[in-house]
Amino acid sequence: MIKFETPAGNKYAWDDDVGLFIPLSPTMSAVLNEISDRQAICKEHIIDGVIKFVDVWFSYDNRSILQGFNATFRKGLNYIVGDNGTGKSTILKLLCALYSLERGYITIDEQNIVNVKKTDLRRNISIIFSDPYLFDASIYENILIGNLSAREENVVHAAKLVRIHEFISSLPDGYKTQVGEDGLRLSSGEKQKISLARAVLKNSPIVLLDEVTKSIDSESRKLINEVIRTLKKEKTIIIITHNLDEIDINSNIISLEQKNCRTESINCSNDLPISRLVL
Ligand SMILES: Nc1ncnc2c1ncn2[C@@H]1O[C@H](COP(=O)(O)OP(=O)(O)OP(=O)(O)O)[C@@H](O)[C@H]1O
Ligand SMILES: [Mg+2]
Repeated sequence: MIKFETPAGNKYAWDDDVGLFIPLSPTMSAVLNEISDRQAICKEHIIDGVIKFVDVWFSYDNRSILQGFNATFRKGLNYIVGDNGTGKSTILKLLCALYSLERGYITIDEQNIVNVKKTDLRRNISIIFSDPYLFDASIYENILIGNLSAREENVVHAAKLVRIHEFISSLPDGYKTQVGEDGLRLSSGEKQKISLARAVLKNSPIVLLDEVTKSIDSESRKLINEVIRTLKKEKTIIIITHNLDEIDINSNIISLEQKNCRTESINCSNDLPISRLVL
Protein backbone atom coordinates (compact mmCIF):
# COMPACT_ATOMS: atom_id res chain seq x y z
CA MET A 1 0.00 0.00 0.00
CA ILE A 2 1.40 3.45 -0.95
CA LYS A 3 1.46 5.82 2.02
CA PHE A 4 2.33 9.46 2.29
CA GLU A 5 2.24 12.26 4.82
CA THR A 6 1.28 15.85 4.00
CA PRO A 7 3.34 18.77 5.40
CA ALA A 8 0.51 19.27 7.91
CA GLY A 9 1.11 15.74 9.20
CA ASN A 10 -2.01 14.09 7.75
CA LYS A 11 -1.34 10.51 6.71
CA TYR A 12 -2.94 8.86 3.70
CA ALA A 13 -2.74 5.42 2.13
CA TRP A 14 -3.67 4.51 -1.42
CA ASP A 15 -6.30 1.82 -1.69
CA ASP A 16 -6.19 0.10 -5.06
CA ASP A 17 -9.66 -1.31 -4.82
CA VAL A 18 -11.40 1.88 -3.90
CA GLY A 19 -9.16 3.86 -6.22
CA LEU A 20 -8.53 6.68 -3.78
CA PHE A 21 -6.33 7.83 -0.96
CA ILE A 22 -7.84 7.07 2.41
CA PRO A 23 -6.98 9.24 5.39
CA LEU A 24 -5.21 7.15 8.03
CA SER A 25 -6.24 8.26 11.46
CA PRO A 26 -5.10 5.87 14.21
CA THR A 27 -8.65 4.50 14.61
CA MET A 28 -9.07 4.16 10.86
CA SER A 29 -5.91 2.03 10.48
CA ALA A 30 -7.18 -0.27 13.22
CA VAL A 31 -10.52 -0.60 11.45
CA LEU A 32 -8.91 -1.24 8.07
CA ASN A 33 -6.70 -4.00 9.49
CA GLU A 34 -9.55 -5.57 11.34
CA ILE A 35 -11.85 -5.62 8.31
CA SER A 36 -9.23 -6.90 5.86
CA ASP A 37 -8.72 -9.99 8.02
CA ARG A 38 -12.32 -11.08 7.87
CA GLN A 39 -13.31 -14.08 5.86
CA ALA A 40 -14.40 -13.42 2.30
CA ILE A 41 -17.95 -14.39 1.56
CA CYS A 42 -18.82 -11.70 -0.97
CA LYS A 43 -20.20 -12.89 -4.27
CA GLU A 44 -17.84 -12.18 -7.12
CA HIS A 45 -20.59 -10.29 -8.94
CA ILE A 46 -23.33 -8.30 -7.30
CA ILE A 47 -26.58 -9.20 -9.01
CA ASP A 48 -29.44 -7.19 -7.53
CA GLY A 49 -27.33 -4.32 -6.22
CA VAL A 50 -29.68 -3.69 -3.29
CA ILE A 51 -27.97 -1.80 -0.46
CA LYS A 52 -29.66 -1.52 2.93
CA PHE A 53 -28.71 0.55 5.95
CA VAL A 54 -30.57 -0.91 8.92
CA ASP A 55 -30.75 1.02 12.22
CA VAL A 56 -27.24 2.42 11.67
CA TRP A 57 -25.68 4.36 14.55
CA PHE A 58 -22.32 6.00 14.02
CA SER A 59 -20.12 8.53 15.87
CA TYR A 60 -16.78 10.17 15.15
CA ASP A 61 -14.80 10.33 18.42
CA ASN A 62 -17.95 10.19 20.57
CA ARG A 63 -19.71 12.81 18.42
CA SER A 64 -22.88 11.17 17.22
CA ILE A 65 -23.56 11.59 13.49
CA LEU A 66 -26.18 8.94 12.63
CA GLN A 67 -28.81 7.70 15.05
CA GLY A 68 -30.80 4.76 13.76
CA PHE A 69 -30.39 5.61 10.06
CA ASN A 70 -32.43 3.40 7.72
CA ALA A 71 -32.34 3.52 3.93
CA THR A 72 -32.58 1.26 0.93
CA PHE A 73 -30.74 1.97 -2.31
CA ARG A 74 -31.60 -0.05 -5.41
CA LYS A 75 -30.24 -0.48 -8.91
CA GLY A 76 -30.66 2.82 -10.72
CA LEU A 77 -30.31 6.38 -9.51
CA ASN A 78 -30.42 7.17 -5.80
CA TYR A 79 -29.76 10.61 -4.34
CA ILE A 80 -28.76 11.80 -0.89
CA VAL A 81 -29.43 15.47 -0.24
CA GLY A 82 -29.21 17.62 2.86
CA ASP A 83 -27.41 20.45 4.60
CA ASN A 84 -23.68 20.55 5.25
CA GLY A 85 -22.59 18.23 8.05
CA THR A 86 -25.72 16.03 8.09
CA GLY A 87 -23.63 12.93 7.35
CA LYS A 88 -24.02 12.40 3.60
CA SER A 89 -20.34 11.68 2.84
CA THR A 90 -20.11 9.62 6.02
CA ILE A 91 -22.85 7.31 4.70
CA LEU A 92 -20.78 6.57 1.58
CA LYS A 93 -17.66 5.95 3.69
CA LEU A 94 -19.58 3.54 5.92
CA LEU A 95 -20.69 1.64 2.82
CA CYS A 96 -17.01 1.25 1.86
CA ALA A 97 -16.35 -0.07 5.40
CA LEU A 98 -13.91 2.71 6.18
CA TYR A 99 -15.29 2.85 9.73
CA SER A 100 -17.03 0.43 12.08
CA LEU A 101 -20.66 1.00 13.05
CA GLU A 102 -21.70 1.49 16.63
CA ARG A 103 -24.96 -0.30 16.05
CA GLY A 104 -26.99 -1.65 13.15
CA TYR A 105 -25.72 -3.11 9.90
CA ILE A 106 -25.34 -2.52 6.17
CA THR A 107 -26.11 -5.18 3.60
CA ILE A 108 -25.44 -5.55 -0.10
CA ASP A 109 -27.63 -8.18 -1.72
CA GLU A 110 -28.54 -9.41 1.77
CA GLN A 111 -24.89 -9.87 2.85
CA ASN A 112 -23.73 -7.94 5.89
CA ILE A 113 -20.66 -6.03 4.74
CA VAL A 114 -18.75 -6.73 7.95
CA ASN A 115 -18.54 -10.33 6.78
CA VAL A 116 -17.13 -9.37 3.40
CA LYS A 117 -13.41 -9.09 2.79
CA LYS A 118 -12.47 -5.46 2.26
CA THR A 119 -10.85 -6.09 -1.11
CA ASP A 120 -13.93 -7.95 -2.39
CA LEU A 121 -16.23 -5.22 -1.16
CA ARG A 122 -14.21 -2.43 -2.75
CA ARG A 123 -13.72 -4.25 -6.03
CA ASN A 124 -17.46 -3.82 -6.43
CA ILE A 125 -17.54 -0.12 -5.55
CA SER A 126 -16.28 3.02 -7.29
CA ILE A 127 -16.30 6.11 -5.15
CA ILE A 128 -15.46 9.63 -6.21
CA PHE A 129 -15.29 12.54 -3.82
CA SER A 130 -15.57 16.19 -4.77
CA ASP A 131 -11.82 16.66 -4.36
CA PRO A 132 -10.36 13.59 -6.03
CA TYR A 133 -6.74 12.61 -5.60
CA LEU A 134 -4.54 12.22 -8.67
CA PHE A 135 -1.14 10.50 -8.69
CA ASP A 136 2.10 12.15 -9.57
CA ALA A 137 2.00 10.17 -12.83
CA SER A 138 0.69 10.51 -16.39
CA ILE A 139 -2.96 11.21 -17.18
CA TYR A 140 -3.06 7.77 -18.83
CA GLU A 141 -1.89 6.04 -15.65
CA ASN A 142 -4.30 8.08 -13.57
CA ILE A 143 -7.22 6.68 -15.58
CA LEU A 144 -5.74 3.18 -15.93
CA ILE A 145 -5.62 2.69 -12.15
CA GLY A 146 -9.39 2.10 -12.38
CA ASN A 147 -8.66 -1.17 -14.17
CA LEU A 148 -5.02 -2.12 -14.61
CA SER A 149 -5.81 -4.72 -17.24
CA ALA A 150 -7.71 -2.29 -19.51
CA ARG A 151 -6.44 -1.68 -23.03
CA GLU A 152 -5.51 1.72 -24.43
CA GLU A 153 -8.72 1.98 -26.45
CA ASN A 154 -10.74 1.41 -23.26
CA VAL A 155 -8.88 4.24 -21.51
CA VAL A 156 -9.56 6.58 -24.44
CA HIS A 157 -13.20 5.48 -24.59
CA ALA A 158 -13.65 6.27 -20.87
CA ALA A 159 -12.03 9.69 -21.37
CA LYS A 160 -14.35 10.38 -24.32
CA LEU A 161 -17.43 9.44 -22.30
CA VAL A 162 -16.64 11.96 -19.58
CA ARG A 163 -15.71 14.69 -22.11
CA ILE A 164 -12.03 14.99 -21.26
CA HIS A 165 -10.51 13.31 -24.34
CA GLU A 166 -10.36 16.47 -26.43
CA PHE A 167 -8.64 18.40 -23.67
CA ILE A 168 -6.09 15.60 -23.12
CA SER A 169 -5.42 15.36 -26.87
CA SER A 170 -4.80 19.11 -27.06
CA LEU A 171 -1.89 18.86 -24.59
CA PRO A 172 1.59 18.59 -26.18
CA ASP A 173 2.21 15.22 -24.50
CA GLY A 174 -1.41 14.06 -24.72
CA TYR A 175 -2.19 11.12 -22.43
CA LYS A 176 1.50 11.00 -21.39
CA THR A 177 1.26 14.42 -19.72
CA GLN A 178 2.48 14.23 -16.14
CA VAL A 179 -0.12 15.80 -13.88
CA GLY A 180 2.18 16.56 -10.94
CA GLU A 181 1.39 15.77 -7.33
CA ASP A 182 -2.37 15.99 -6.74
CA GLY A 183 -2.91 17.11 -10.31
CA LEU A 184 -1.36 20.53 -9.72
CA ARG A 185 -1.33 21.35 -13.41
CA LEU A 186 -5.04 20.68 -13.85
CA SER A 187 -8.17 22.59 -12.97
CA SER A 188 -10.61 21.09 -10.44
CA GLY A 189 -13.05 20.16 -13.22
CA GLU A 190 -10.32 18.45 -15.27
CA LYS A 191 -9.21 16.45 -12.23
CA GLN A 192 -12.81 15.52 -11.55
CA LYS A 193 -13.32 14.29 -15.12
CA ILE A 194 -10.14 12.18 -14.94
CA SER A 195 -11.38 10.56 -11.74
CA LEU A 196 -14.77 9.95 -13.41
CA ALA A 197 -12.98 8.31 -16.36
CA ARG A 198 -11.19 6.08 -13.83
CA ALA A 199 -14.56 5.03 -12.38
CA VAL A 200 -16.04 4.40 -15.85
CA LEU A 201 -13.04 2.15 -16.59
CA LYS A 202 -13.48 0.29 -13.31
CA ASN A 203 -17.05 -0.55 -14.34
CA SER A 204 -18.12 -1.66 -10.87
CA PRO A 205 -21.76 -2.52 -10.04
CA ILE A 206 -21.94 0.15 -7.32
CA VAL A 207 -20.97 3.76 -8.06
CA LEU A 208 -20.84 6.44 -5.35
CA LEU A 209 -20.56 10.05 -6.46
CA ASP A 210 -20.03 12.71 -3.81
CA GLU A 211 -20.67 16.14 -5.33
CA VAL A 212 -18.65 15.16 -8.39
CA THR A 213 -20.06 17.76 -10.73
CA LYS A 214 -19.42 20.65 -8.33
CA SER A 215 -16.44 22.05 -10.26
CA ILE A 216 -17.61 21.05 -13.70
CA ASP A 217 -18.92 23.60 -16.22
CA SER A 218 -22.61 23.42 -17.06
CA GLU A 219 -22.19 22.01 -20.57
CA SER A 220 -19.93 19.15 -19.41
CA ARG A 221 -22.15 18.61 -16.39
CA LYS A 222 -25.12 18.03 -18.66
CA LEU A 223 -23.18 15.52 -20.73
CA ILE A 224 -21.77 13.73 -17.68
CA ASN A 225 -25.24 13.48 -16.15
CA GLU A 226 -26.37 11.85 -19.39
CA VAL A 227 -23.52 9.33 -19.08
CA ILE A 228 -24.52 8.61 -15.48
CA ARG A 229 -28.12 8.06 -16.57
CA THR A 230 -27.03 5.52 -19.21
CA LEU A 231 -25.39 3.48 -16.43
CA LYS A 232 -28.50 3.37 -14.26
CA LYS A 233 -29.96 0.18 -15.77
CA GLU A 234 -27.03 -1.94 -14.70
CA LYS A 235 -25.60 -0.21 -11.61
CA THR A 236 -26.63 1.03 -8.20
CA ILE A 237 -25.62 4.67 -8.30
CA ILE A 238 -25.75 6.87 -5.20
CA ILE A 239 -25.28 10.55 -5.88
CA ILE A 240 -24.76 13.25 -3.27
CA THR A 241 -25.56 16.66 -4.65
CA HIS A 242 -26.48 20.15 -3.47
CA ASN A 243 -27.58 20.92 -7.00
CA LEU A 244 -31.26 20.02 -6.83
CA ASP A 245 -32.01 20.74 -10.47
CA GLU A 246 -29.71 17.80 -11.40
CA ILE A 247 -31.98 15.34 -9.63
CA ASP A 248 -34.07 12.90 -11.60
CA ILE A 249 -37.35 13.17 -9.69
CA ASN A 250 -38.40 9.62 -10.55
CA SER A 251 -35.48 8.21 -8.60
CA ASN A 252 -34.99 7.30 -4.96
CA ILE A 253 -34.26 10.46 -2.96
CA ILE A 254 -33.13 10.43 0.68
CA SER A 255 -33.10 13.80 2.39
CA LEU A 256 -31.11 14.25 5.60
CA GLU A 257 -32.16 16.89 8.10
CA GLN A 258 -30.73 18.00 11.43
CA LYS A 259 -33.39 18.16 14.14
CA ASN A 260 -32.46 18.67 17.79
CA CYS A 261 -28.86 17.63 17.02
CA ARG A 262 -30.09 14.41 15.43
CA THR A 263 -29.87 13.55 11.75
CA GLU A 264 -33.24 12.41 10.44
CA SER A 265 -33.79 10.92 7.02
CA ILE A 266 -36.87 11.25 4.87
CA ASN A 267 -37.51 9.20 1.79
CA CYS A 268 -38.78 11.92 -0.52
CA SER A 269 -39.55 9.62 -3.40
CA ASN A 270 -42.28 7.90 -1.37
CA ASP A 271 -44.06 10.51 0.62
CA LEU A 272 -42.79 13.99 -0.12
CA PRO A 273 -42.79 16.11 -3.25
CA ILE A 274 -39.42 17.32 -4.50
CA SER A 275 -40.49 20.90 -3.76
CA ARG A 276 -40.11 20.08 -0.07
CA LEU A 277 -36.38 19.68 -0.68
CA VAL A 278 -36.04 23.14 -2.06
CA LEU A 279 -37.67 24.83 0.93
N1 LIG B 1 -12.97 12.11 10.01
C1 LIG B 1 -13.79 12.82 10.78
N2 LIG B 1 -13.55 12.96 12.11
C2 LIG B 1 -14.39 13.66 12.91
N3 LIG B 1 -15.52 14.28 12.47
C3 LIG B 1 -15.81 14.16 11.15
C4 LIG B 1 -14.98 13.44 10.25
N4 LIG B 1 -15.51 13.50 9.02
C5 LIG B 1 -16.65 14.24 9.14
N5 LIG B 1 -16.82 14.62 10.41
C6 LIG B 1 -17.95 15.40 10.94
O1 LIG B 1 -19.13 14.62 10.79
C7 LIG B 1 -20.22 15.43 10.34
C8 LIG B 1 -20.79 14.84 9.06
O2 LIG B 1 -19.79 14.97 8.06
P1 LIG B 1 -20.05 14.61 6.54
O3 LIG B 1 -18.78 14.91 5.82
O4 LIG B 1 -20.59 13.24 6.44
O5 LIG B 1 -21.19 15.67 6.17
P2 LIG B 1 -21.84 15.99 4.76
O6 LIG B 1 -23.31 15.84 4.93
O7 LIG B 1 -21.18 15.21 3.69
O8 LIG B 1 -21.52 17.55 4.62
P3 LIG B 1 -21.17 18.43 3.30
O9 LIG B 1 -22.48 18.75 2.62
O10 LIG B 1 -20.54 19.66 3.87
O11 LIG B 1 -20.22 17.66 2.44
C9 LIG B 1 -19.69 16.84 10.19
O12 LIG B 1 -20.07 17.59 11.30
C10 LIG B 1 -18.18 16.67 10.13
O13 LIG B 1 -17.53 17.74 10.74
MG1 LIG C 1 -19.91 15.71 2.11
